[in-house]
Amino acid sequence: MTNPGRKPVIAGNWKMHKTKQEAKQLASAIASAVKGQSDLPTVVLCPTFTGLETVIAESAGSPVQVGAQNMDWREQGAFTGEIAPPMLVDLGVKYIIIGHSERRQFFGETNQTVNLRLKAAIKHNLVPIVCVGETIDERENNLTDAVIARQIAAALVDLTAEQIKGILIAYEPVWAIGTGKVCEAQEANRVAKLIRKTVANLHTMPNLADSIPILYGGSVKPSNIEEQLEQSDLDGALVGGASLNAEEFLALITATQKKLRLAPTKS
Ligand code: PGA
Repeated sequence: MTNPGRKPVIAGNWKMHKTKQEAKQLASAIASAVKGQSDLPTVVLCPTFTGLETVIAESAGSPVQVGAQNMDWREQGAFTGEIAPPMLVDLGVKYIIIGHSERRQFFGETNQTVNLRLKAAIKHNLVPIVCVGETIDERENNLTDAVIARQIAAALVDLTAEQIKGILIAYEPVWAIGTGKVCEAQEANRVAKLIRKTVANLHTMPNLADSIPILYGGSVKPSNIEEQLEQSDLDGALVGGASLNAEEFLALITATQKKLRLAPTKS
């Protein structure tokens, strides 16, 4: 967190958890705890589609922002089971997770559909959190850098530098998600630098790559977030398991607040 222009982000990905009532309780506990506090990171909660309306209502009047975990890229149509961007905007959703590895792994999402979703998000003024990450096989075969560079370049196809400026990127090594095996902070930082370099190679706009917040994701817990936050090129976390519990999630916010107090950001 050395770049004063990048505000850190703590985003919770609730995945397929929480009924409406459970979502209400968790969102209300988080929103009431952060309300009125200073030096907060951007706090984003990403419940299931069925929890969105409730979480938006519970977060109203608090700094908590709400995101969805996925969306189709088309405006409407005969796509049974899908949710279109205008439907999310209509509810008051502000953020959208794109290309999470579970979507890539279990639901056939590709670099190309990530690009289509990203373009749709930008068109509808949703703030995208684009996820990239290598599998354990790719890491063990020294393919990490090639995979990440390819995922980033493919996600950003046809986007202008202006459009790229507003996105967030999450580096989430697949082998670290939900496994308790956190990626070593220096290594996550090295990959974050590679992501910036890949963006810089695509566009010559000065400072573009440095302006993008890059989150780390994969078994983030209150016990390991500080190390990640100390890295020069990491700006917060996308959190699964630890975001399902108010106390743990709030502890991640508090840790980020402490860092911000030591090194305030501009925005
Ligand atoms: P985890 O999930 O924190 O449970 O590892 C992270 C994610 O999938 O975004």
